[in-house]
Amino acid sequence: MAPDWSMRSLSFLNGSPQHPDLTLWTADSGGWEHTADLSNAMHLQGYRDYDTKSMLRILERLQKLGQDLTFDGVLSDSQPLHLHFEHELNTLNHTPEHIILHTDSNMATLTHPEFDSATEAITVAQAFAPSIKGRTILITGVNRLGIGYTTAEAFASESPRLLILAGRSPAKVQECIDALSQKYPDVEYRLLQVDLSSQESVRNAASTVLSREDVPTIDLVINNAGVMCLPERTLSPDGIEMHLATNHIGHFLLTNLIMPKLIAAAKDKAPGTVRIINVSSVGTCTSPFRASDPNFTKSNAELPDNEKGALAMLKAAGLPAEEDKTYLPMIAYGHSKTCNILHAVGLDKRLYEKYGIVSVALYPGDMRSELIRHTDQEWLAKAMAAREAQGHRIKTLEEGSSTTLVAALDPKLDKPGNGYFVTNCQVGTQPPAPKYAVDEAEADKLWETSEELVGEKFAW
Ligand SMILES: NC(=O)c1ccc[n+]([C@@H]2O[C@H](COP(=O)([O-])OP(=O)(O)OC[C@H]3O[C@@H](n4cnc5c(N)ncnc54)[C@H](OP(=O)(O)O)[C@@H]3O)[C@@H](O)[C@H]2O)c1
Repeated sequence: MAPDWSMRSLSFLNGSPQHPDLTLWTADSGGWEHTADLSNAMHLQGYRDYDTKSMLRILERLQKLGQDLTFDGVLSDSQPLHLHFEHELNTLNHTPEHIILHTDSNMATLTHPEFDSATEAITVAQAFAPSIKGRTILITGVNRLGIGYTTAEAFASESPRLLILAGRSPAKVQECIDALSQKYPDVEYRLLQVDLSSQESVRNAASTVLSREDVPTIDLVINNAGVMCLPERTLSPDGIEMHLATNHIGHFLLTNLIMPKLIAAAKDKAPGTVRIINVSSVGTCTSPFRASDPNFTKSNAELPDNEKGALAMLKAAGLPAEEDKTYLPMIAYGHSKTCNILHAVGLDKRLYEKYGIVSVALYPGDMRSELIRHTDQEWLAKAMAAREAQGHRIKTLEEGSSTTLVAALDPKLDKPGNGYFVTNCQVGTQPPAPKYAVDEAEADKLWETSEELVGEKFAW
């Protein structure tokens, strides 16, 4: 089955002025397809699973949107789509560089069809209040200026038993606890110091959690912490590429080590109540899992086809995308975010049948947080302005944490696969993440690599 294109926000990004190629990608939800052709004709090729009906809907919209736009589309189920725009691309829409189409909002398949990109986390918490009351919830990456804080705040608003707030900077986590205690004084908060990039630190943190007899169970783990676009290839203390080490391996190890408390929580609850939530990103579209080179020692050209990064997409967005470089910041980030989704797939396979524990991955949207601290600020300002000019709303932190709460609480996501990739508080009929990010064989490969990298096997 094909994804429902009506849930996508489509962006046509022009290539560099020297290079008139065009790239089309789905800005909000994942999949992307590259195109390369003449300046006034665009070939969209090989979108994973597109089907004629979905594409026709897009074509109708294209027609409605650009009065001077005509096209002759050749559509078939089996052949690549060739879509020719017979117009001056630069005059079609608002800016010369960007031609943007926004299709309808998400397909609503979850309990609250009214939830969307503008829904705030606190609204989701209210809607699912009984699923929060009395629960123990662990959240990683909690800082005042990120979605970790607004996620914690939303949970705190509905009387959980305990919030374990984890981060590498105790002062920053304490600042969050102080603010939350003022607002919600009846909730118990614990600070857990953990540097996810260091396996020693993760093991120490896990021991602390396991040793607390007054915390016998953990109902929800929200793997939210992350780093993005470190400008240079950096290795963790354990010799692992830093995005992979922090965003995936640290979470993989922590979640596995504290699993006995999740299993204990799941014992007397309905399947799908106890969950592990992985905060991923649309960055997943930039890279599949690099099983043969997780540490970024090979250039794109040296990688097997199924591990190559999406350099055309980076180029189109004005990001560094040299073929011969072994390390590209956005690819390294996207790679780790693909691992977040595959990790959820792997957890489901190992935990659902036996324990009823479910794992869900999500894309929270785009927010101004501290995540951009390593990003080229000039590029970022332009990219953000362009996105906003295109009608793509940058979310507030309160809006940016709502999808996490839906992933954690919506009863319709109580089975594996239902929510591999939740976006804007909804899911489509198909996971809108790229296929390589939800593939079970890839998930198994990642699981094995992760076990090797942490030097321990996990089976329950
Ligand atoms: N913002 C967006 O537009 C966006 C879009 C898509 C996905 N996401 C995802 O959303 C999640 C939260 O990001 P955010 O936007 O809230 O960014 P943020 O403000 O930078 O928050 C990231 C959090 O992760 C923590 N962290 C980083 N490295 C760590 C480590 N080694 N050990 C422990 N904690 C560490 C940070 O701690 P410090 O404060 O101590 O550095 C911070 O608390 C990330 O997984 C990100 O990939 C965000």
